[in-house]
Amino acid sequence: METKTPVNDRSVWRKKPMYLFEQDIQKSELKRVLGKWSLTAIGIGAIIGGGIFVLTGTAAHYHAGPALALSFIVAGIGCIFAALCYGEFASMLPVEGSAYAYAYGTIGELFAWAIGWGLILEYAMGAMTVAVSWSGYFNKLIHLFGIEIPFWLRNDPVSAANYAELNGLEAPAFAINLPAFLIVWLVTYILIKGIKEAANTNNMIVILKVAAVIFVIVVGAFYIIPENWKPFIPEPTTIPGENGQPHDAYGWGGILSGASAIFFAYIGFDAVSTQAGEAVNPRKDMPFAIITSLLVCTVLYILVSLVLTGMINYQDIVGDALKAPVAYAFDKAGQGWAVFIITLAATVGLVSVMLVMMLGQTRVFLGMAKDGLLPGFFREIHPKFKTPWKSTVLVGTIVSIVAAFTPISLLGDMTSFGTLFAFAMVCLAVWILRRRDPDRERPFRAPALNIIAPLGIIVNTVLIFNLSGLAQKLAVVWLLLGMIVYFVYSRRNSKLNDL
Ligand code: ALA
Repeated sequence: METKTPVNDRSVWRKKPMYLFEQDIQKSELKRVLGKWSLTAIGIGAIIGGGIFVLTGTAAHYHAGPALALSFIVAGIGCIFAALCYGEFASMLPVEGSAYAYAYGTIGELFAWAIGWGLILEYAMGAMTVAVSWSGYFNKLIHLFGIEIPFWLRNDPVSAANYAELNGLEAPAFAINLPAFLIVWLVTYILIKGIKEAANTNNMIVILKVAAVIFVIVVGAFYIIPENWKPFIPEPTTIPGENGQPHDAYGWGGILSGASAIFFAYIGFDAVSTQAGEAVNPRKDMPFAIITSLLVCTVLYILVSLVLTGMINYQDIVGDALKAPVAYAFDKAGQGWAVFIITLAATVGLVSVMLVMMLGQTRVFLGMAKDGLLPGFFREIHPKFKTPWKSTVLVGTIVSIVAAFTPISLLGDMTSFGTLFAFAMVCLAVWILRRRDPDRERPFRAPALNIIAPLGIIVNTVLIFNLSGLAQKLAVVWLLLGMIVYFVYSRRNSKLNDL
């Protein structure tokens, strides 16, 4: 096959030869303890988070109306295409590093680097964003018990200053989002202790949050007012957008922009593919877990969106209801107690999202460091816990500091950018490899690849262009910064230089 890199190849398109991947698989120092259901729980653990409880309101009100369920189907289709491609790759190359590793074996080093760098947006920035929303839910939860943390201890300095101004208070001299800071360290601790501990914590949380989502669907179904679904796809029109500017909403265009708006809720299933080094039987179980976790969540999400838009009219989701639409719907139905269950589920549920994102980040770094593209520090494994502990501490430090001191929640769209970019690239890479090396053993083959790969590329690229302009610009700056690091450090230290 053509993936053999000639000796002394200095081109940015050089590929990692397959025999080196095989060596990596044999030499892995991580503990292989994850079975297929733990892997599936890792997928669900990362997928169900704040997204479904929060973004549904914005997407229904500003984009799709009752057709929100169709937005979930569109985004779900883009994800299923990507998941099938991830599945095929994961079965062939069960190594840490996920999309980064796949691209390295097929397209070339620079491209793989760009994906690895983009995945930092998905995992590390995703974890920061989620830590900040976790803090929000945690504060809401303790508020239900009459406990308040002073505003300067639960907000980053910018948000604290805004809060003080809005409430006629004196601007604080110092402010920190302490809950966000502390939760990141709790997660870091669990991750260092061992993959089995992390998986057990995740399994427990997944049971709880799936139960909460099923609760929303089953109980909410009794409060559906079918009139709220009429018309199911409202006529396209121009309404004031979130920033007050005129914005095209509803109709099929609204369904599509709604799909981008809720895409964040789907992020996570691909994190399963970063766990190859810890899976007992990665070739069979990873495709299973990636696809099963996504399908389970897609069905739950479609049902939640139908229930939500049936319980309340999309036009009534304004003001505070936009921040917590599901809780608002139950409140309006006279079931205020449900708010407690939803808040509790989101607070606990977001811990596993962070857990899997930070886990994924350290495993992507591990893959990149093994290839020499990042310093050896990132691949040092703890002798007892068998986890990449130094990298985990570094990721924990950065994520906790950013989450504690910056209004990062604004940048959730960048997380989506990093993910969509990786999805489109995985579809491309799997397609290329199928053509270039059709006879290679594929324990899992994505069906109708000639259709799903190009569609996966198209759907995920279209969703990128529907993200906010600011996020697109910042993400491009991030990728350019990555190019500098590549040419200054990674290219010179690549292990392929030694072949
Ligand atoms: N999918 C995850 C969430 O919705 C990131 O929180």
